[in-house]
Amino acid sequence: MAKVIAIVNQKGGVAKSTSCVNLGIGLVKKGYKVLAIDFDPQGSLTESLGYQNPDELEITVATILHCEMNGLELPKGYGILHHEEGMDILPANIELSGGRS
Ligand SMILES: Nc1ncnc2c1ncn2[C@@H]1O[C@H](COP(=O)(O)OP(=O)(O)OP(=O)(O)O)[C@@H](O)[C@H]1O
Ligand SMILES: [Mg+2]
Repeated sequence: MAKVIAIVNQKGGVAKSTSCVNLGIGLVKKGYKVLAIDFDPQGSLTESLGYQNPDELEITVATILHCEMNGLELPKGYGILHHEEGMDILPANIELSGGRS
């Protein structure tokens, strides 16, 4: 059964993204399947997993939220990307900070 681990803190720069990457890769090495979901419009988690220009990605967590909220068909593959060390990532970018009509 899937387990959700949220790494959140109101304060900036306290190693949320770093913890997420290291915890995720550690769990992969133990044999777990891991999907990291970036929920920060800065896209730092997305960047640190190798996608260095998050603002150029067309499908992100914002797209998925938009589709879910409006009853639209979800994009094929849900926009999930793969990191070479075995972790999957649903990316985020600046689009998460804005409203969409
Ligand atoms: N254990 C550590 N020792 C030293 N530096 C660390 C450690 N963990 C993280 N850092 C550094 O601290 C800085 C902030 O880390 P990180 O980006 O993970 O924080 P964050 O909470 O995700 O920040 P933000 O609020 O901007 O999203 C980074 O430069 C990171 O490399
Ligand atoms: Mg961060």
